[in-house]
Amino acid sequence: MSKAILDVKDLKKHYSRSRGLVSALRGRDVVIPAIDGISFYIRENETMGLVGESGCGKTTVGRSIMGLTPITSGQVLFDGEDLSVLPPSRFLPYRRQMQMIFQDLDAALNPKMRVRSILREAVTVFDRPGNEGVDRRIRELLDQVNLKESKLTSFPHELSGGEKRRVGIARALAVGARFLVADEPTSALDVSIQAQIVNLLVDLQRDLGLSYLFISHDLRIVELISHKVAVMYLGKIVEMGLAGSIANRPLHPYTRMLWSSMVDGRSLEGSPSPGGRGTWGSLDFERPQAGCRFASRCPVYRDRGRPAVCTDPSTEPELLDVGRARKVACHFPLQ
Ligand SMILES: Nc1ncnc2c1ncn2[C@@H]1O[C@H](COP(=O)(O)OP(=O)(O)OP(=O)(O)O)[C@@H](O)[C@H]1O
Ligand code: SF4
Ligand SMILES: [Mg+2]
Repeated sequence: MSKAILDVKDLKKHYSRSRGLVSALRGRDVVIPAIDGISFYIRENETMGLVGESGCGKTTVGRSIMGLTPITSGQVLFDGEDLSVLPPSRFLPYRRQMQMIFQDLDAALNPKMRVRSILREAVTVFDRPGNEGVDRRIRELLDQVNLKESKLTSFPHELSGGEKRRVGIARALAVGARFLVADEPTSALDVSIQAQIVNLLVDLQRDLGLSYLFISHDLRIVELISHKVAVMYLGKIVEMGLAGSIANRPLHPYTRMLWSSMVDGRSLEGSPSPGGRGTWGSLDFERPQAGCRFASRCPVYRDRGRPAVCTDPSTEPELLDVGRARKVACHFPLQ
C-alpha cells in the first residue's frame, strides 16, 4: 500500500469576524470556526473527495493545507514533514509539489496575461530551462491537458470555462506538482464539460501518479472521481469512507440528506424543515448548536423524540470507526 503524501491532524482554522465598529473596539469579535478539528490522510496516487454544502469550510481546508492562510492549530504533514512549523525558506521545495486549482475561474488567471505568458511564468518559477526548453515544456503541457496550441495567444476572457480550467491545471502541472487541491474544478461548467474535466484529472492521475484533494458540493461528482470521501458539516468531518459506499449507504443523517437533495435536484438551503416549521436555514457558524451541530436540521433527532444526548453540550459526537473503512460522528447512525 502506498504511503501517505498528506496527513492532516486535528486541523483548526478559526476566523474572527467583527460585528461592527463598537464590538470590534470592545474586542467582541465573533469567532468563526471554519475548520474545527479535522483529521485525514491521502495516499500517493489517491483521490480524497471533500463534500459539503456552501460555507461549511471546504475551501478553508484547501487553503490551510496549501499554507495560503495561517492555521489556528493542528498539523499538516506533507511527505512526513510538518509544514505548519516550517520556516518559509524550507517551505519552498514543498510549495512546488503541492498546487491548488482555485474555485473562482476568473480570479485564478491573470486577465492581462496571454496563455503563453501564464504557462511560461509557471514553467520558469522554480527552473531555468532556456527558451527552447520552455517552449518544449509548454507544448507538452498543452498536450497533457488537451488544449490547442492556437490558444497560447488568447487572453483568459477569450477562453471558454473549460479551457480556463485546462490552463489552470496546466499551470499546476508546470511547476511539477505531485499533489493538487482541486477546489470545485467543475463548478460553473456545462455538464458535458464537467465530465471532460473529471476525465482529464483521472487520466493525469493515471499518467503522472498525482494525488488529489477534490473539493465539491456535488456528491455525485465526488463519488465519481474519488477513492474515499469525507463529508463536512459546519467545520467538522461528520462521515468518511470509501467512495461508492458513502452515497449508497450513508450512515450519517446529513450525508443522506445531502445525497437525497442531489438526486432530487433541489438545493438544501432554504428548503422546508422536516418538522414543517421554519426552514433548514443555511449554515450558521455564529450560533452553533450545543452538542451535535446538525441537531436543528436532523430528521433522526426529530423522529427519535429529540434525545437529550444530541444537544448535550458535553457530548458532541466524535468521528468513530464503525468498521469497513467507515467513520461516522453520530449518536444514532443510520443502518
Ligand atoms: N477570510 C475569511 N474571513 C472570515 N471568514 C471567512 C473567511 N473565509 C471564509 N470565511 C468563513 O468561513 C466559513 C467557511 O468558508 P469556506 O469558503 O471555506 O466554505 P466553502 O465550503 O468553501 O463554501 P463554498 O462551497 O461556498 O465555496 C464561512 O462561514 C465563511 O464565511
Ligand atoms: S447525533 Fe443526533 S442530532 Fe446529530 S446527526 Fe446523529 S441523530 Fe442527528
Ligand atoms: Mg469554497
